Amino acid sequence: MAEEKYLIFGKNGWIGGKLIELLQAQGKTVVLAQTRLENRESLFAELDAVKPTHVLDAAGVTGRPNIDWCETHQVETIRTNVIGTLNLAEACHLKGIHMTLYATGCIFEYDEKHPIGGAGFTEEDSPNFFGSFYSKTKAYMEDMLKSYNNVCILRVRMPISDDLNSRNFVTKIVKYDKVVNVPNSMTVLTDLLPISLLMAARKLTGIYNFTNPGAISHNQILALYKKHVDPSYTWENFTIDEQNKILAAKRSNNELDTTKFCAALPDVHIPDIHEACEKVFQRMKVNLEAEGIWPDKLPKRTNRLAPPSS
Ligand SMILES: NC(=O)c1ccc[n+]([C@@H]2O[C@H](COP(=O)([O-])OP(=O)(O)OC[C@H]3O[C@@H](n4cnc5c(N)ncnc54)[C@H](OP(=O)(O)O)[C@@H]3O)[C@@H](O)[C@H]2O)c1
Repeated sequence: MAEEKYLIFGKNGWIGGKLIELLQAQGKTVVLAQTRLENRESLFAELDAVKPTHVLDAAGVTGRPNIDWCETHQVETIRTNVIGTLNLAEACHLKGIHMTLYATGCIFEYDEKHPIGGAGFTEEDSPNFFGSFYSKTKAYMEDMLKSYNNVCILRVRMPISDDLNSRNFVTKIVKYDKVVNVPNSMTVLTDLLPISLLMAARKLTGIYNFTNPGAISHNQILALYKKHVDPSYTWENFTIDEQNKILAAKRSNNELDTTKFCAALPDVHIPDIHEACEKVFQRMKVNLEAEGIWPDKLPKRTNRLAPPSS
């Protein structure tokens, strides 16, 4: 069997950077893609030159400082999230290469059939959240991409890391003056990114709800932050309606059903989100201390009524 060779898109991104570190630590051959996804000819030429066995796509427009940016930059968002992603899937399909896409689960919102605490959305469910242009592009793409039998679509949600990186869902909600309080499915990156590499190595395809099993609320996360990291931390809640008044785009809240994801990896323990988050904050404290952030330089709330970014 040919040696595995990974070509990764999104090399300067948050998730892309973590994937590169993981692959290098595993001694895998990793090539960092140079092509912009929308440049079809260059994309084909790079695949021909590198000849990867696996492509990892962690490139996407997410907006800065948050997804509200996509509302006013719709063409730029389409260029990467729709045209670019489809280009890459097709190029890989034509060349028989397995592709893993770090997609999003922010394409659903709780509804009558899927209420808070009830049945989660499965991989068979069609997106029902179109409240932001970002989510619209992602939902549209998922529907198209499922026709490609070489693509593994991972629905990432509210990703959590073991530090206070600005992209970490925890960092976002720690800094806001007011937060909503809704249970959600979330992706603990330390647990799940290595599993995504295993899925790629095994060439799994199709859609997966790529989150830790279960749902955790904003207040439960902040309580863990207070317990493990900053005992002096306090916060205030506001309602989704109040939050919507300060947003250009709405945010999705949902629970995803992880039955299919867990069944696809019977030999792997995928920790429940509550167990996973306890461990996140234990690791975070150690990491912050090593970085000289804990205990005196912890972030303070910004008194900005801004929402989490996605
Ligand atoms: N972070 C989250 O909260 C979250 C949640 C769910 C899903 N996701 C998804 O996971 C993926 C990675 O997210 P992330 O947080 O790592 O995002 P990120 O830090 O913003 O990184 C995205 C990367 O994509 C690259 N990129 C954008 N357009 C490109 C194009 N046309 N061609 C090639 N590269 C392009 C960017 O490069 P440049 O800077 O050079 O443009 C950047 O390095 C995204 O698709 C995102 O939608 C993220």
